[in-house]
Amino acid sequence: MSELSHMLDYMYENMDGRECVEDYHDRHGTQTAGILTVYDDERAGLIIDRLYDRIAGKVVVEIGGGIGLLACHLAGVAKRVFCIECDLMWMSC
Ligand SMILES: C[S@@+](CC[C@H](N)C(=O)[O-])C[C@H]1O[C@@H](n2cnc3c(N)ncnc32)[C@H](O)[C@@H]1O
Repeated sequence: MSELSHMLDYMYENMDGRECVEDYHDRHGTQTAGILTVYDDERAGLIIDRLYDRIAGKVVVEIGGGIGLLACHLAGVAKRVFCIECDLMWMSC
């Protein structure tokens, strides 16, 4: 199992559904489903391949970037990447 998988398992086990986390989201209006779709390098790489012509050398904004894995891959192609995420659980990753 990869380090990334370990970290994600840890986050789900220790954060997801916790009352204090739900309270935080209630206070800030940031309720989210806590679901990632980009959680390994292979998947991120496939997305970069698909978007390459549209992002190479450009400034890219990713809204709702989860753990930032896609943003890291974007940074290898784009001129600059801004990644915005409101869920503290994912931001801490
Ligand atoms: C379905 S998840 C996808 C996460 C990531 N892009 C991925 O594919 O793994 C949507 C993400 O958008 C974030 N999100 C939702 N509303 C947001 C907002 N207004 N500002 C920043 N992030 C937001 C959520 O916290 C969540 O992490």
